[in-house]
Amino acid sequence: MDMLDDTPRGKSNRKLDAYWMPFTANRQFKASPRMLVGAKGLHYTSDDGREILDGTAGLWCCNAGHGHTEIADAVHRQLLEMDYAPSFQMGHPLAFEFAERLKDLAPDGFEHVFFTGSGSESVDTALKIALAWHRARGEGSRTRLIGRERGYHGVGFGGISVGGLVNNRRHFGTLLTGVDHLPHTHAPEHNAFSRGQPEWGAHLADDLERLVGLHGAETIAAVIVEPVAGSTGVLVPPKGYLQRLREICDKHGILLIFDEVITGFGRLGTPFASQFFGVMPDIFTTAKGLTNGAVPMGAVFTTDRIHDAFMNGPEGTIELFHGYTYSGHPIACAAGLATLDIYERDGLLTRAASIAPAWEEALHGLKDAPHVIDIRNLGLIGGIELASRPGAPGARAYDVFTACFQEGCMIRVTGDVIAMSPPLSIGEAEIAQLIGTLRKVLERTE
Ligand SMILES: Cc1ncc(COP(=O)(O)O)c(C=O)c1O
Repeated sequence: MDMLDDTPRGKSNRKLDAYWMPFTANRQFKASPRMLVGAKGLHYTSDDGREILDGTAGLWCCNAGHGHTEIADAVHRQLLEMDYAPSFQMGHPLAFEFAERLKDLAPDGFEHVFFTGSGSESVDTALKIALAWHRARGEGSRTRLIGRERGYHGVGFGGISVGGLVNNRRHFGTLLTGVDHLPHTHAPEHNAFSRGQPEWGAHLADDLERLVGLHGAETIAAVIVEPVAGSTGVLVPPKGYLQRLREICDKHGILLIFDEVITGFGRLGTPFASQFFGVMPDIFTTAKGLTNGAVPMGAVFTTDRIHDAFMNGPEGTIELFHGYTYSGHPIACAAGLATLDIYERDGLLTRAASIAPAWEEALHGLKDAPHVIDIRNLGLIGGIELASRPGAPGARAYDVFTACFQEGCMIRVTGDVIAMSPPLSIGEAEIAQLIGTLRKVLERTE
């Protein structure tokens, strides 16, 4: 398809067919594209020259907002100094420096960082470390992985196997075997319009005992959950739920993995969600905010207890047969170090704690808006669930999404849930704009 490009970038023929877009209705999009051509601070610029308030920090990744010259300069400098260095049996200083900085930021006890290229790779890495850890300790029978219904752990085969979103699973044949799932914690009949963590539902973690009873603890390697589930429509863990999971894992020698790909780097008002909830996993995954979304990268954090079990055998032995060409990529490390400087300078990793009350108040102000059947929030995360149109799940939220874009606000929808996760630098005026736009759009949406 040819389209006339009359954007500020000049008039040329723009072809849209070659790019097979991810998680997108390609034909629908290409018939009526939404193009972003610039980004600065809290705003994108669309190709028709409009300012769009970023209500989603890109895809939950630009936690410090957009267009930071410090990140651009660091990347530029590093590209000229050394564009790439192999990460297998070779090192470069920035990867070590970045790992040290991350370790200092992580909760006490997380002493080691394994670099990946994305959240999906971080998840697969964490699952593999968990499996190999048990084997390294002589418990090779622990091969089973437990995920959760409505969980999202990226799109690798490991991630979709432990994930619990049916559309991400059912098209792809045989997934990992030996996987089971906990029930999700979404219970609007008990918890609708909860502010923050719902009161009801901690006991849902007890289902892990049932799975232990069914399979035998000696077959289970790890449980993986998102501390707050995002992509499935913002599911906030009930009070006490994560603590309970931790206790049951401890009781049965099962590793607990937190997938902090969206909660990492300040989303809840602490650097990591484990600190917010006061529950420590054994391994946790990150990506996205790690480099403020500027360069693809992920990182998996582990404790000495996990890492040191691998550091046996002859010194010349590769301890973990795993890694990526782009593990610890110098450009990503440069972007990540500059990102941490910005987070620290601007106090962004704790800022959500102070803005969260205003966010919660504004969000729950939409309770009486048309179609709204639930509102969920924690830190700088917000979910607004709409009643589905009969026979057309997702259609109403999609209309709200496109109308908000026309009105100058970027939100995200998954099914009929509007999910928002603005940059951590958002102020009350922009929150008011976002929520005001949503109300206006909801009022005219059928
Ligand atoms: C919790 C969680 N895990 C993993 C991923 C996958 O990350 P990526 O898209 O970088 O592979 C995501 C992405 O949204 C996520 O939310």
